[in-house]
Amino acid sequence: MQFWDELINEAKKVRNSAYAPFSSYLVGAAIRGKSGKIYVGCNVENSSYGLTVCAERNAISAMIAAGETEWTHCAVVTKNSGSPCGACRQVLAEFTRDFENAQVMCCNEDGTDRKIWSIAELIPGVFRL
Ligand code: THU
Repeated sequence: MQFWDELINEAKKVRNSAYAPFSSYLVGAAIRGKSGKIYVGCNVENSSYGLTVCAERNAISAMIAAGETEWTHCAVVTKNSGSPCGACRQVLAEFTRDFENAQVMCCNEDGTDRKIWSIAELIPGVFRL
């Protein structure tokens, strides 16, 4: 589980930077690229509510900006082990070709509640062009 612990720690750390004055729902995400490098993101809300960007999508953007295009593992930390929203599932799916093995772990703040899903489970019937 040490493998996941590192990702969860990174997600926890970046969660402290979440900007969520409207919902107070803080989210931290850490994604491991195929290279082994870790990319992080937190949710960033906006006064114009619809402009809010989720933690998972911000982490994916950090990965893409760094020049990496495929991820293998993703940890998401929230107060209640919440799972990624539909938009984030679609965006996560864009950057893996291995739907059975790309895994997302959702966990709570103290790491006592952990759930793991594959992308195949999270978004059956994913949209493709
Ligand atoms: N949020 C995420 O960061 N990731 C998700 O997958 C679901 C929702 C954020 C958006 C908003 O800032 C807050 O959680 C409440 O919806």
